[in-house]
Amino acid sequence: MKPPRQFYQPLAIGAPEPLRALPVRLERMIHFVPPHIEKLRAKVPELARQVDVVLGNLEDAIPIEAKEAARQGFIAMAAATDFGATGLWTRINALNSPWVLDDIGEIVAAVGNKLDVIMLPKVDGPWDIHYLDQLLAQLEARHRITKPILIHAILETAQGVNNVEAIALASPRMHGMSLGPADLAASRAMKTTRVGGGHPEYKVLADAQNAEARPSFQQDLWHYTIAKMVDACAAAGIKPLYGPFGDFSDPAACEAQFRNAFLMGCVGGWSLHPSQIDIAKKVFSPDPVEVAFAKKIVDAMPDGAGAVMVDGKMQDDATWKQAKVLLDLARLVAAKDPAMAARYAL
Ligand code: GLV
Ligand code: MG
Repeated sequence: MKPPRQFYQPLAIGAPEPLRALPVRLERMIHFVPPHIEKLRAKVPELARQVDVVLGNLEDAIPIEAKEAARQGFIAMAAATDFGATGLWTRINALNSPWVLDDIGEIVAAVGNKLDVIMLPKVDGPWDIHYLDQLLAQLEARHRITKPILIHAILETAQGVNNVEAIALASPRMHGMSLGPADLAASRAMKTTRVGGGHPEYKVLADAQNAEARPSFQQDLWHYTIAKMVDACAAAGIKPLYGPFGDFSDPAACEAQFRNAFLMGCVGGWSLHPSQIDIAKKVFSPDPVEVAFAKKIVDAMPDGAGAVMVDGKMQDDATWKQAKVLLDLARLVAAKDPAMAARYAL
């Protein structure tokens, strides 16, 4: 194990010091842009005003013959756009791919001072994070990058799920983790053909005893993994996110999947289609009714001590802390979004 005193030392002479706390930022949706398509790149300045994070995707969904163009397109859009308070991320190719070394090297050299987070796909264990951590430190030193570029892992292999706690704790550069349900389904040999969401045959059938009709209830295929990921991230002080939802024709199912993740502790999800931006905004901004109740709890016990009744429900230290989570998030949303600020009225 690395000695605690070394944990926050830069991994290369001249690299910026690792952060001790994550920047406080709203990351309700990570909006994916295919940067090789000029028409979509042209929309990025406007997009940056609508979303919390713009991500230039270089990995899956980018055709092999467009890998170079996507990388150059990302560099061009990063250089040309003022992102303001909106995050700028890229999803690089996997560490075993022929493109990744140039992805990292060229992007850090060209726009390293604008890049907030690198999303690393197909992370199997902490060794993948250690490799990228070291390489980024060397490149940051070479290119005089002033703030550390953070790493966001995609949890999308069976091995990664087995090692999720070690991945979360692998480096102070860790920003968080997203569930990658499509690759994870393939890695686990799940019998599905979907990008996230449920399956009508994954269900529980009511008992046969005395039942004329036997209702069945669809279950959440991702419950176990999201729970495991949320615990690993919360324990490490990093952020868990739900990943992609591929059926753009079913916004209700996307909303339900996002909401399950939000209720369990995730801070956001990916938007792969413009229609998913508003779904993520709605789901990952706390409900004004819940926020109003949270405010009642905090107002009733300002220092969080003791026990009080609010609307017939017992409140104590633990519900006060839950209320604080909602209120802190609502304040963050309100600071960015005047319409939500009016609804929260905090
Ligand atoms: C995302 O990358 C996924 O595989 O679901
Ligand atoms: Mg994937």
